[in-house]
Amino acid sequence: MRCLTTAIKHVLAVAGLFCFMMLLACCGNRVAGTFTSGEIWKDNNGVHINAHGGGILTLSDTYYWFGEHKTEGRSGNSAQVGVHCYSSQDLYQWKDEGIALSVVADDTTHSITKGCILERPKVIYNKKNNQYVMWFHLEPKGEGYSGAMSGIAISDRPTGPYTFVKAIRPNAGYWPINVLETHKSGIFPQESQRFSGGDLPAHPDTLNLLGRDMPGGQMARDMNLFVDDDGTAYHIYASEENSTLHISQLDEDYTGCSGKYARFFVNRFMEAPTMFKKDGNYYLIMSGCTGWAPNAGRSAVAPSVWGPWEELENPFKGEDSDLSFHSQSTYVLPVPGTTHRFIYMGDRWTPENAIDGRYIWLPLRIEGKQPVIEWLPEWSYETTE
Ligand code: GAL
Repeated sequence: MRCLTTAIKHVLAVAGLFCFMMLLACCGNRVAGTFTSGEIWKDNNGVHINAHGGGILTLSDTYYWFGEHKTEGRSGNSAQVGVHCYSSQDLYQWKDEGIALSVVADDTTHSITKGCILERPKVIYNKKNNQYVMWFHLEPKGEGYSGAMSGIAISDRPTGPYTFVKAIRPNAGYWPINVLETHKSGIFPQESQRFSGGDLPAHPDTLNLLGRDMPGGQMARDMNLFVDDDGTAYHIYASEENSTLHISQLDEDYTGCSGKYARFFVNRFMEAPTMFKKDGNYYLIMSGCTGWAPNAGRSAVAPSVWGPWEELENPFKGEDSDLSFHSQSTYVLPVPGTTHRFIYMGDRWTPENAIDGRYIWLPLRIEGKQPVIEWLPEWSYETTE
């Protein structure tokens, strides 16, 4: 009898363990060890990851994912909380590290006051002074998208808290290295001559948007950061009313502009830029400019950050490639342990209920010189070429 009771106890214990394992595996509607684009991705607390328009900071064996903390409803597209940080050792399981940069609730005049627009935060590490530096697209509260500024914050720990440093329009007082004579000698429109977004009434050079903004700094909306192998860091941003992409070298502290920058893809309205490097070539994955609605992806390659940049094809291949699989680029990360395979990271925005936005992470490979991204409903980087 005692034997039977012990056996039943054993069976129950094994069954209990099995149920517990199943629960763990099902946590987040995904099996541990795969990416399931477009599904709910739960963190260690069982909460959908809240890090939109994000990027990854890689530090030896740990990945830190920083992104916009969105809240419910349409108002959740503006910054009610700040920048959220998660950490992971394998890119599949994410630990909530809390809010790395908080918006300011008790000062309505502060640059990052609650309700401002704070988008696409990215963090890089500066070896020189052992500092973590965050840049983000900042729109002062109540001014729509007219501010087109860059915010900068620093911390001595990767997870923060980050201290807000300043909000700027990049490269005030500097001409880009590929400035045209007509920018310098041509008509300088008034600061008041601004456009409400979307198409421009004429070519950006005819309007001399560069000259208009040269004294006070260039417009900077969708943005990313890239640190090259030699430690030089770059800020890549949609400028000149979104019409033209600027690539700008940061200063040695990474907290300001060096004044060296160049303009590319003039009048191509490139948004959501993300830069990466393979075999000495620089690549950009970008989108067109249709707000929260997805559009066909863009890609480009160059032998140097300073160009010449050659625009390539839409990197998305197959059904729904004209909508980038209902996503917009935010980051490209080398597959752990490799330098020739990459993970495309994009956002599937849900502007009506901002917090419900989903993550589209897919394998990115280079064929010849063309980046290629194909849809896979579930995959792991360990087993997918
Ligand atoms: C997108 C941009 C997002 C956000 C949105 C607002 O084009 O990539 O970061 O700014 O527009 O409509």
